[in-house]
Amino acid sequence: MSDRAIDKIMEDILAGKNRLIQRPEVLDPEYIPKNLPHREQKIADLTMIFRDALTMPGKFSIRAVVFGRTGTGKTVTTMTFGKKLEQKAMETRGMRIKYIHVNCHKHRTLFLILNYLIEKMMLPVSSRGLSSQEMFKIIHEYLEKRNMYLILALDEFDYFVNTASQDDVYFLARVYDELNFLEKRIHYVFIARDFSSLAGLDKSIRDHVLMNTVEFEPYTSAQLRDILKDRAEEAFVPGSVLDEAIDFIADVYGADKGGLGNARLAIETLAQAGIIAEKEGSLVVTREHAKLANARLNPYVAQIRDDIQALDLHQILLLKAIINLTKGGKEDFFSMGRVEEEYQRVCQIYNQQPRRHTQVFEYVKKLRHLGILNTRASGKGMRGRTTLISLALPASMELEAAVEDVLNARLSGKV
Ligand SMILES: Nc1ncnc2c1ncn2[C@@H]1O[C@H](COP(=O)(O)OP(=O)(O)O)[C@@H](O)[C@H]1O
Ligand SMILES: [Mg+2]
Repeated sequence: MSDRAIDKIMEDILAGKNRLIQRPEVLDPEYIPKNLPHREQKIADLTMIFRDALTMPGKFSIRAVVFGRTGTGKTVTTMTFGKKLEQKAMETRGMRIKYIHVNCHKHRTLFLILNYLIEKMMLPVSSRGLSSQEMFKIIHEYLEKRNMYLILALDEFDYFVNTASQDDVYFLARVYDELNFLEKRIHYVFIARDFSSLAGLDKSIRDHVLMNTVEFEPYTSAQLRDILKDRAEEAFVPGSVLDEAIDFIADVYGADKGGLGNARLAIETLAQAGIIAEKEGSLVVTREHAKLANARLNPYVAQIRDDIQALDLHQILLLKAIINLTKGGKEDFFSMGRVEEEYQRVCQIYNQQPRRHTQVFEYVKKLRHLGILNTRASGKGMRGRTTLISLALPASMELEAAVEDVLNARLSGKV
């Protein structure tokens, strides 16, 4: 390569010539987006729950539980709600509410949480040598003196429940019963991934935590499409992300298509697709880039792809049959009879002679062994016992595409 050519390449890159991502920070998981499509209702629910914090200040300590799977927008929505409530309280009533968001995974003990509060509120005290009770009192007195209220969001609270001492959990949940304050100035939002971890709390604690719950459902592919579109518009060169790329990612992760419903993974995939496109020197992000990004990031894809590559033709036909059944409706488990029926139909479509029952049963065992299928025995029904079969994985576009690819390769005799 000539010196001039090297110069040219470096200058182009440094001048940002093949940049597709203009604002990488927008694709960072910590970034707070301008819009929160499809979470309006959750903001409304939270506002209803905390309404009395504004209308009857000091009367109650309000508690809400926000729960849902990873990537469903719990953190970003609660933060957005909290910041807005601060503003509204000031604008409409001249009231001072402070929202503080604590990640319990980062601040792992009660002491560290209280210490963080003291820091955030810029209290002129050192927490050294203080007990939790004393720290809490200082915080409360400070609020009183300034006529302020606090909304404390405890994120990843299930982590705290699982690792902190029972006493500490008890303290956080019940503190107003222990300390006799006239006015209640601290409200809580407990954010958790898994509702059952909270439901499993000691009853005396549970009643104080589980008052108002707001569930965050996994996103559907149509919802993810809106979220991704917004994000692409903010982060990328205008028009450089093709709809086909966004559609692909939205379909892979959409809960209604068997995906995880996780906006975080969807956005990460979009970012990765952008990076791949840039490296290629492409002017746009295409479906192919999105596919490559997905193959890198999607936790399921790599392993399953390898496993499927190694299957026999009829094992793949059987897998296809079970995917068909799963996609067809709301059921999860299918009797051996139904599976075989569909398998025979698939064989017919692909012009193959179906294998006999005992052989098919061996295939089921093999696929179960690989973790692709689950099986269980049916109860003693009218017609005796049968094996029930279900897919161990989401019947995602990704799985379907992988099966289709291998099937075509097998049938054309390439592999
Ligand atoms: N409705 C939404 N609109 C825009 N971005 C969203 C939305 N929901 C989630 N996100 C983004 O997806 C990522 C994961 O959201 P997050 O709030 O961290 O989820 P959780 O706390 O439930 O795991 C973040 O980058 C967040 O900004
Ligand atoms: Mg979160």
